[in-house]
Amino acid sequence: MSIIPITIYGDKILKEKTKPVNDIDSKLIKLIKDMFDTMHNANGIGLAANQVGIDKSLFVIDLSDVEGYEKLKPVVMINPKIVLLSDEKISIEEGCLSVPKLRAEVLRPKMVKVDFFDTDMKEQSIEADELFARVIQHEYDHLFGKFFTDRIGEQMKKRVKKDLQEIRKRKVDVDYPITEKELI
Ligand code: NI
Repeated sequence: MSIIPITIYGDKILKEKTKPVNDIDSKLIKLIKDMFDTMHNANGIGLAANQVGIDKSLFVIDLSDVEGYEKLKPVVMINPKIVLLSDEKISIEEGCLSVPKLRAEVLRPKMVKVDFFDTDMKEQSIEADELFARVIQHEYDHLFGKFFTDRIGEQMKKRVKKDLQEIRKRKVDVDYPITEKELI
């Protein structure tokens, strides 16, 4: 089991678009396993590769500890592409392991359809709703250098500005390993 320090708001890799995965080798399989370990250790439900310092287009999701989602198997989405978003939007409170302790309501489409590759490099397509759709959209944003805090209203942005600066300086208590200082 390997726990990797999680990159934090301000780290350059989290602000950049990730690169597509070209082939699944043993190194990538190990990375995926480590990402699950790292996410579980931090009690997270989703984690993108750039959150563990890897510039690749993939993320992992595990909602099996969430009430109502016990039957949903942990999933890895490699080179995901959101192909459909519902017109209907819902507001759900989001948090992020790279933005510790900060939570905010975010309005996003309720349902999403995503195409991706699995670890056998087989093409898959999933239609997700509610929380599952939410986590997919949140993680997908990471792959394009976006945070949930980029999607909140202007007033709320002003309100969290100071918190984000503190997080950037690591002036926040976390109970999982994070990068020690801003990676620029
Ligand atoms: Ni996040």
